[in-house]
This record gives sequence, C-alpha cells and structure tokens, in this order.
Amino acid sequence: MGKKIISINEGKLSEFKLHSIWLRERLNGSEFVDQNNLQRLYEPSLLDDNLFINSHNVNENILNVEFSDGAKGSFNIDDLYNEINNIDVIPEKKIWNVSEQNFYTALELTSHSDNPYRKPVPGIQLLHCIANESTGGDSSLVDGFSVANFLRHNQPEFYKVLTEINVTFKFTDIDTILVDEAKLIELDHNNNFRQIRFSGRLDYVPLLEENNLDLFYNARKYMFKLCNSDDFKIKFRLSKGMIAMFDNLRLLHGRTKFDPNTGFRHLQGCYIDHDVTEGKLRRLLKP
Ligand SMILES: [Fe+2]
Repeated sequence: MGKKIISINEGKLSEFKLHSIWLRERLNGSEFVDQNNLQRLYEPSLLDDNLFINSHNVNENILNVEFSDGAKGSFNIDDLYNEINNIDVIPEKKIWNVSEQNFYTALELTSHSDNPYRKPVPGIQLLHCIANESTGGDSSLVDGFSVANFLRHNQPEFYKVLTEINVTFKFTDIDTILVDEAKLIELDHNNNFRQIRFSGRLDYVPLLEENNLDLFYNARKYMFKLCNSDDFKIKFRLSKGMIAMFDNLRLLHGRTKFDPNTGFRHLQGCYIDHDVTEGKLRRLLKP
C-alpha cells in the first residue's frame, strides 16, 4: 500500500510533508510536460483522487518517486526546497534545439483562460480564423462566472478554497519566466465575481497542509468537470473569415483535438485591453 504523504528524513526537506498529487503534478519528464515551456501535456484535475506514492528514495540530492498510476520521475531537492520557500533562482541555461521551438499543438485544449501568469492578464481575446480545414478543432466557450455561481450555491466548501487559496501561475520559455499568483475565482470587495483564472497546464498550488491540499485538489477537479461539461459549454466551429471575440477575464475557451494531416488550420490570435473595450461599449450604450 502506497503513501499519500511522504517525509524525507534528512536534508533540506526534512521539515516538510510532501503530498502525492503535489509531487505528481510537478513531474517534468517529456511525457508529462512540453520540454520547451514546461506546460503540462495532461489535465492534472483528472489525476486519480487516491493517488499514492508507491516508493521513493533520495540519492545525491535527487528524490526519485514512483506513483500508483505508473508515473515516475525525479525531483531535484533544491528545486523543491526553493519552490516551497519561494526562492527565485536563475535557471541553468540549456542549449536551444531549433526543431523543438514549435509551441503549436494539435492536442485537445480543455477549457482554460489565457495567460493567467501575466500582470495584467490579457483582457479581451480575438481569434481570427484564417483556415479551418482539418478534421476536428471545434471551439467552445464557457462562462466562468456561471461556473463560479454554481459552485457558490452548490459546493460552498469548494467555492471557499477556490476564492481564498493563492495559486502560482508560471510560464517558462527560452526568453522569459512570467509568474503571478492569484485565486482561481477572484472576488471584488462586494464579493462579486471579478475574474476567473483557470489553466491546468500552468498552475501550482503551494505546499499546504494535507487537508487543505486535498480540499483544493477536489475543488479544482470539480471546477474542471463543470468547465468541461455540456451543461456549461457553448460549442461551435470557426470557419474561414470568422472572428471569435471574448472576455478572457470571464470566459474560458477550449478546442477539440484536430488532425493536422487532414487540412490546413490557422487561427490568428491577439489580445486587446479590457478597460478600453469596456469603455467603448459604455460610450456606445450611452451616446
Ligand atoms: Fe488559449
């Protein structure tokens, strides 16, 4: 029987209890994250609730772990320690491999908001469909406020952690490391919804007490389920010439996977500021 929490008896991490999912979602092998930007290739909300650590050992500052779902990998103890203690380190420079520069993916994109690691997060997103001839690649939008409202009324405990726990969002590539922390559901001073950030490829919850981590992971999983359920999703297909324009502080967007071998697909995206767009709308509504 594996363990949900492990402690490492010696060295820097001896005072911390490490949670199975917290470690699992930090695996950084090529089967788990894109090696160019460290974005996860899977949805962490779909990890097994009862994930255990089957075995672990420490060898020369490297923690090796095998999980109950078959995943395994290694962690540098210093990296874990620095993350837990919010110590920013200048990363080791790696030789750039040109053939790996392509950020483009044909994988399914589950509902997410863009660039939650930016300050400020891009306000309005435009997606201009130049071509959409591939099989698959249908678009979807979800009203994050409506999901948050459902949580508020039906899952108050989940709602509480999602509005209270600060999560780190991090984007890494060859040029930059962008980091910000925020709640998945951000409220204003009147407890009205202000902003939704949801991007399972880029979020890192701090190492909290086991109960709080369990609650957070259950809450995030539940929110993921809602955001990807037909109860909340509007599905449509962009065709050549169409532009989808939506509020990235409120809506989540997604896309089914597509097969790049079946035709040309090109969506050109850009962002514009929220305030000027809202300001123009206000002006137009109040001539
Ligand atoms: Fe996106």
